[in-house]
Amino acid sequence: MPIRHLDPFVPIKTARRTDANPYISKFSEAAASKTLPICAGPDLMNYVGRWRERIEQYYKTSKQHLEGLVVEIGCHTGQALVQMAADHPNQAFVGVDITFKRVVKSAERAVDHGLKNVFCILADAKFLEKLFPDQELTGVVARFPDPWKKKKKEKN
Ligand SMILES: C[S@@+](CC[C@H](N)C(=O)[O-])C[C@H]1O[C@@H](n2cnc3c(N)ncnc32)[C@H](O)[C@@H]1O
Repeated sequence: MPIRHLDPFVPIKTARRTDANPYISKFSEAAASKTLPICAGPDLMNYVGRWRERIEQYYKTSKQHLEGLVVEIGCHTGQALVQMAADHPNQAFVGVDITFKRVVKSAERAVDHGLKNVFCILADAKFLEKLFPDQELTGVVARFPDPWKKKKKEKN
């Protein structure tokens, strides 16, 4: 179930759905304990304008500076994100998606691959400009965007 919010920095309401979706509690626990490189809601404020520095801090790699910041809109389960990050270890990659499960899965994939340049956030990409000021970004990737314009999908 995708998140819906009007401001990327407000807490994401989850109370009614926690039982139905195990990834909600998994997300909260991993974000709080920092066991996965994930973030959402008010905590995103700490990253805006300082993404690379924060990612280096998360991975405790501040001696090896990340040189750029690429954002993937709709990272799904992180397959492309992880491949890009593995191919370009000196750049920071942030995956953005709108479901708890996909963000958790993407982050788990990055950790499984031993990467130290990936972060995943739960947010709606319509807030991209608020989350990533122009001067911070070196690239934006949007592969197979969804939803896309199809007659039968108009209602979505
Ligand atoms: C077809 S998948 C993309 C696959 C992935 N980019 C790849 O290359 O393998 C589309 C993804 O976009 C996400 N998505 C849809 N609308 C979004 C939005 N407004 N903000 C962020 N992600 C979104 C969906 O949750 C889904 O995971």
